[in-house]
Amino acid sequence: ATIMVLNGPNLNLLGQREPAQYGYETLADVESMCREAAQALGHEVDFRQSNHEGVLIDAIHEAGRGVKEGSVLGVVFNPGAYTHTSIALHDAIKGAEVPVIEVHISNVHARESFRHHSYISPCAAGIVVGMGVHGYVMGIQGLVHKFGR
Ligand code: DQA
Repeated sequence: ATIMVLNGPNLNLLGQREPAQYGYETLADVESMCREAAQALGHEVDFRQSNHEGVLIDAIHEAGRGVKEGSVLGVVFNPGAYTHTSIALHDAIKGAEVPVIEVHISNVHARESFRHHSYISPCAAGIVVGMGVHGYVMGIQGLVHKFGR
């Protein structure tokens, strides 16, 4: 099946943006890692990034329709800063009934207190935090382990 790997705002800048926090790998590097990890488990990746909340909401809805049709397994989602602000993304995940693994490259709990709360975690099937970009691979593996068929 297809695993959607969805990236929120500013993740297009990965590799240049605060490398002490997020490392030197680019989003293109993350995409190749994800494709490889999914392929090894017999799945495919639909890799996306948007800086726009509504585009992310539409992608979640699309993934939900795919889950119902049996073509999509779920979403590995790094919502970026929308993690800490977006009730709309929380509602989208609930409404679309799509399994979501929430991924954060950095350990958000060791950072500013405004990063400690997530609107996504209560509706996530699993969470990977602070494992660097390898967290995406772990998210894919976790999604397949929990929901793979
Ligand atoms: C992030 C953590 C968020 O707090 C931040 O706003 C990001 C990236 C991470 O992957 O560590 O944009 O989701």
